[in-house]
Amino acid sequence: MRQDPPPGAAPDWTIPQGFERYTEAEHAVWRTLYARQMKLLPGRAVPEFLEGAALLGMEEGIPDFRRLSDRLMALTGWQVVAVPGLVPDDMFFEHLANRRFVAGNFIRKPDELDYLEAPDVFHDVFGHVPLLAHKVFADYMQAYGKGGLRSMGFGALHKLARLYWYTVEFGLVQTGEGLRIYGAGILSSAGESRFALDSPSPNRLGFDLMRVMRTRYRIDAFQQTYFVIESFESLLQQTLETDFAPLYAALAALPDLAITDILPTDRVLTRGSQAQAA
Ligand code: PHE
Ligand code: FE
Repeated sequence: MRQDPPPGAAPDWTIPQGFERYTEAEHAVWRTLYARQMKLLPGRAVPEFLEGAALLGMEEGIPDFRRLSDRLMALTGWQVVAVPGLVPDDMFFEHLANRRFVAGNFIRKPDELDYLEAPDVFHDVFGHVPLLAHKVFADYMQAYGKGGLRSMGFGALHKLARLYWYTVEFGLVQTGEGLRIYGAGILSSAGESRFALDSPSPNRLGFDLMRVMRTRYRIDAFQQTYFVIESFESLLQQTLETDFAPLYAALAALPDLAITDILPTDRVLTRGSQAQAA
């Protein structure tokens, strides 16, 4: 059963961004958020994120997706397209598999700088798009889209969605300089940009594909467990080289893990106090 796009949207669910309709006040919200994050993120975000943001030029206000897409296209062959909120899973994967990142076009109100129910253009574009300028991460996102379409055939989408959650949205990476953030959900949040690296509350565990796909997640508060990858290269290589079909079969027979479970097989970087969640 295929859902129809809302009125005004194309069959692939895209809509015009409506760049000309943003008010000066809306651009000002972007600049406030941008300045706040850019003060916080040097030394916290993975360097590739900061390089991507600088290359794409995002400081002046809400970016025009057409200009952003031109720059990204030249760098890694990606585009940014606007959609009205959430799109059906198959549509989302279809866009990623074709190197199109779907983004909301609305921006949060000035009195909602910290709390958001639905991802806005600041989360979607500031959080996600800079890393699409990085070749390896860009390839991972496309591979994920293809893998997503395939997972639906196995009824395993909700398992694969956890991989997205714990990498693309809330991932940490080990670097020679220490832990760094690459997950967009953290990078677009002032509170979680500090919490994810500095707080003794959450667990920080070495990334493992099967482990992650068994682990539930919460969407209503800071994460209680983060998974740490070794590098974008290792993440891409593992996911490309692994046939997920047998993993999905094995997962069907394994119980889900609670968010704060720590297994004897986990590589534990931080055993969190979970004080913040208590
Ligand atoms: N190799 C995976 C499969 O067999 C596809 C995939 C790639 C999934 C990247 C997630 C991320 O389904
Ligand atoms: Fe996101």
